Amino acid sequence: MNRIIPIASGKGGVGKTVIAANLGTALALSGKTVILIDLDLGGSNLHTCLGIKNRYPGIGNIIYKSETSLESVLLETGTPRLYFIPGDSLLPGTANLNYFTKLKLIKSIHRLTADFIILDLSSGSSFNTIDFFLISSFGLIITIPEATAILNAYSFLKSALFRLIYRSFPPKSEERHTILNMLSERIEGTGLSFRSLTNSLKKISPDSGIVVKRTLADFRPRVILNMSKNSGDIRLGRKLREIVNKNLNITMEFIVIMPNSDAVPRSILKREPLYLSDPGCKFSRSVDSIAENLISYGNPIHQPVYGGYEDLEGLFNTD
Ligand SMILES: Nc1ncnc2c1ncn2[C@@H]1O[C@H](COP(=O)(O)OP(=O)(O)O)[C@@H](O)[C@H]1O
Ligand SMILES: [Mg+2]
Repeated sequence: MNRIIPIASGKGGVGKTVIAANLGTALALSGKTVILIDLDLGGSNLHTCLGIKNRYPGIGNIIYKSETSLESVLLETGTPRLYFIPGDSLLPGTANLNYFTKLKLIKSIHRLTADFIILDLSSGSSFNTIDFFLISSFGLIITIPEATAILNAYSFLKSALFRLIYRSFPPKSEERHTILNMLSERIEGTGLSFRSLTNSLKKISPDSGIVVKRTLADFRPRVILNMSKNSGDIRLGRKLREIVNKNLNITMEFIVIMPNSDAVPRSILKREPLYLSDPGCKFSRSVDSIAENLISYGNPIHQPVYGGYEDLEGLFNTD
């Protein structure tokens, strides 16, 4: 059974790519087969962290149809059991994926065979990023101990949750209609409360209320607080957890705190994951704890999510 681990963040430059490369390395060295996929379209740079030259076809070539399958662009990395699918750095301009291409890509990712498939996503809450994030209930959200990054992580979670609830109802259903209406009618700046959304859906039918309740219960984001400089940062993590629990009515599965380490940027310059050169350092040990967390979880939760990845203007500005 493959586990898909999408890695997302509200803010850029928080360490998604570094963590993807190191987590993939740690899982592979522990005996798992891993495929790393660079899905940061428009900003692909995972190859750099892995020390792989930017000259191989990847996702961009599949989008432009010069390659037919993900398997055909799969590369070995030099680390046993660790494979890599490059992004679109050879073919800039693929950032705006259309609906059908996105669906096709999501289906082909599901068809890959590996113990873990790690997706390095673009920063922010665009539709494409959120839909890639929602491929799996094992997504990781990376943030750093700064107020803006924490707020961005919270907004990302909220947007993802709205999208997930929306997609828990069939296309053209009254429930989807209600969700869209609430989003379009919301008064600028007031935000949209989950409670009022849940109540409106419950009014449609008790079953709809149950669907929302189950969706909220199954959605257990895992958050990583990266670049931590002091132990007080754990308070910020707790605060995020509290706010998420109170306002979004969901439980955070775990938070791992990762230290800030000068060895990380040095490892990028050396083009080698830090985990390979120094598996015992503090940073690598925190990578281990993410890997252990992921390995110890049971099988992914399979909630019925209907199609309809269509890009609906405005659905995501839910501040
Ligand atoms: N734990 C860390 N300690 C020190 N620097 C880090 C750490 N994690 C990431 N960085 C640095 O932050 C920068 C951005 O990391 P990157 O993985 O490219 O972010 P993202 O993919 O989220 O945009 C890189 O220069 C990297 O060296
Ligand atoms: Mg990145």
